[in-house]
Amino acid sequence: MSDKTPSDFTPAFQPWPSYDPKRPEVRYDKDAAFHCLYDEALAVVGMNDRAMRRQRHYLIPQAIRQVRDVPGDIVEVGCYRGLSAYIACAVLEAEGISTDFHIFDSFEGLSKPGDQDYSQFLSKNKTKENPFAFPEDQVRNNLSRFKFVHYHRGWIPDRFADVSEKTFRYVHVDVDLYQPTLDTLSFFWSRLSSRGVMLLDDNGTLYFPGARTAIEEFFAGRSDVVRFELPSGAGLAIKVV
Ligand SMILES: C[S@@+](CC[C@H](N)C(=O)[O-])C[C@H]1O[C@@H](n2cnc3c(N)ncnc32)[C@H](O)[C@@H]1O
Repeated sequence: MSDKTPSDFTPAFQPWPSYDPKRPEVRYDKDAAFHCLYDEALAVVGMNDRAMRRQRHYLIPQAIRQVRDVPGDIVEVGCYRGLSAYIACAVLEAEGISTDFHIFDSFEGLSKPGDQDYSQFLSKNKTKENPFAFPEDQVRNNLSRFKFVHYHRGWIPDRFADVSEKTFRYVHVDVDLYQPTLDTLSFFWSRLSSRGVMLLDDNGTLYFPGARTAIEEFFAGRSDVVRFELPSGAGLAIKVV
């Protein structure tokens, strides 16, 4: 648990790097419930703070609340250490929303990049270890508080068949590369309920151009979606049939 209390989160207190006292205040600056939860989640999964990541994750509680009355389960495709899953699960718990939460991940990091994926980031790091490999048992430990989480270990899309009969209200897509992003959209969009939300973590990142290519290709010409891209790089796709 974070040792900060909501009263610590005043404009004078600047715990997150994006806070800039010279710009007009916005509600985000003072959303103590979110910042306390984010700090707690960072501590549980053992990650450092990054301003843009914090802003991307600010969408999660909002998206979860928007789908409260939409039918279907919840999915995260690409969990790494469980940071975004922790936030989503904690909000579900706090809001009293009863649902199953499915996590799909290799737990071995990224798959092999394709031609669409190369960027300065990937070529620079090609000789390093896979930066997103994290053991499944440690993710389970990080999320052990949430008994409604189901784990589907494997390379995308091998384990999607586990949920082929289900529908979904919220799908968080965060697998960085072209092919798994395209496979995820292809499988889950048709199973997303009306008014369901997809959070597209890599929509605007320049580190992983393949994810954006897959998103643009998949949604081109569709009339059943409303989409937004935010300055943090995150995207939202809302189903409108
Ligand atoms: C950026 S991390 C996810 C971060 C997480 N959503 C968060 O915000 O805390 C990407 C994850 O996608 C997984 N991944 C990437 N490509 C995959 C593939 N082809 N099959 C299965 N998992 C994959 C990696 O193992 C990693 O856990």
